Amino acid sequence: MWPLVAALLLGSCCCGSAQLLFRKVKSVEYTSCNGTVIIPCIVLNVEAQSTEEMFVKWNFNKTYIFIYDGSKNNTIVDTNFPSAKISISDLLKGDASLKMDKSNAVTGNYTCEVTELSREGKTVIELKYRAVSWFSPNEKILIVIFPVLAILLFWGKFGILTLKYKSTRTSKRIILLLIAGTVLTLIVIVGAILLIPGENPVKSASGLGLIAISIGILIALQYNVFMTAFGMTSFTIAILITQVLGYVLALVGLCLCIMACEPVHGPLLFSGLGILALAELLGLVYMKLVASNQRTIQPPRNK
Ligand SMILES: *[C@@H]1O[C@H](CO)[C@@H](O)[C@H](O)[C@H]1NC(C)=O
Ligand SMILES: *[C@@H]1O[C@H](CO)[C@@H](O)[C@H](O)[C@H]1NC(C)=O
Ligand SMILES: *[C@@H]1O[C@H](CO)[C@@H](O)[C@H](O)[C@H]1NC(C)=O
Ligand SMILES: *[C@@H]1O[C@H](CO)[C@@H](O)[C@H](O)[C@H]1NC(C)=O
Repeated sequence: MWPLVAALLLGSCCCGSAQLLFRKVKSVEYTSCNGTVIIPCIVLNVEAQSTEEMFVKWNFNKTYIFIYDGSKNNTIVDTNFPSAKISISDLLKGDASLKMDKSNAVTGNYTCEVTELSREGKTVIELKYRAVSWFSPNEKILIVIFPVLAILLFWGKFGILTLKYKSTRTSKRIILLLIAGTVLTLIVIVGAILLIPGENPVKSASGLGLIAISIGILIALQYNVFMTAFGMTSFTIAILITQVLGYVLALVGLCLCIMACEPVHGPLLFSGLGILALAELLGLVYMKLVASNQRTIQPPRNK
């Protein structure tokens, strides 16, 4: 009610003719994530009882790109903006916002002109485009650093394994661990090379996927390191469970980041990778403790 009174006062005192008042929006932006682009135009003091009393024109670059004539219930749309439309049922609520497909959207200043019987008004809204930033360089480093740390820690455990637990019984497993560890290291290096410099989003995304998915191999490697050294204990089980949880978290984060167009779920991914690396660290510490407590190392007996 108040905007209305204000408008009436304003209209009668200073301007001579009644004005429509608009919600002030200077600009709106869209990204590649917007399927539909909405340029808002909200009239605050609509009095019309029927859309027949209303006339809406949208102007862009000095030409009318959209005209709605309520008295004829007729719409004219510019050929450059074939998807442009307004919601006629929302017009009486004052909403003359222009909607169009992203493919038709052009950045620039749009003028919304509304006429309601003898009252009229217009407002200018600038449509801007913002390029979606994927992960920032710092975030990319975070994504790479945890897996790299985890792999280094794995090689640390591998070192303890070869020094302390080497025997004819374990040598076959150690060779398999060596091969699997090398493959994983190479995959992560390739992933990092794709991810880090990539301005190319497809390259970056494949690098990210490569790292986040392949890093799960570490769980199997850690399990095999433990089995080769001293078998399962409640500690090693707890460590492995922590690592699986970290991996699941990282995968969920990865899926959400890829699905959400903008990677708003990055922290989930980072913490998952962090937990995974932490479990690797715990594994190394535990192994070091066990190894230094064992004076004479006995390889586990085959069942
Ligand atoms: C683009 O999408 C965002 C998020 O859904 C929204 O806030 C914004 O208003 C949209 N931009 C335009 C111009 O429609
Ligand atoms: C605006 O119109 C002029 C000619 O009328 C044209 O050269 C220019 O490219 C147009 N600008 C946009 C952003 O469409
Ligand atoms: C205007 O025309 C559309 C179809 O083009 C129709 O759905 C709507 O009911 C009409 N509105 C009025 C007020 O006549
Ligand atoms: C739109 O209008 C604003 C304010 O008048 C101006 O600063 C801006 O440069 C204009 N934008 C374009 C794309 O013309």
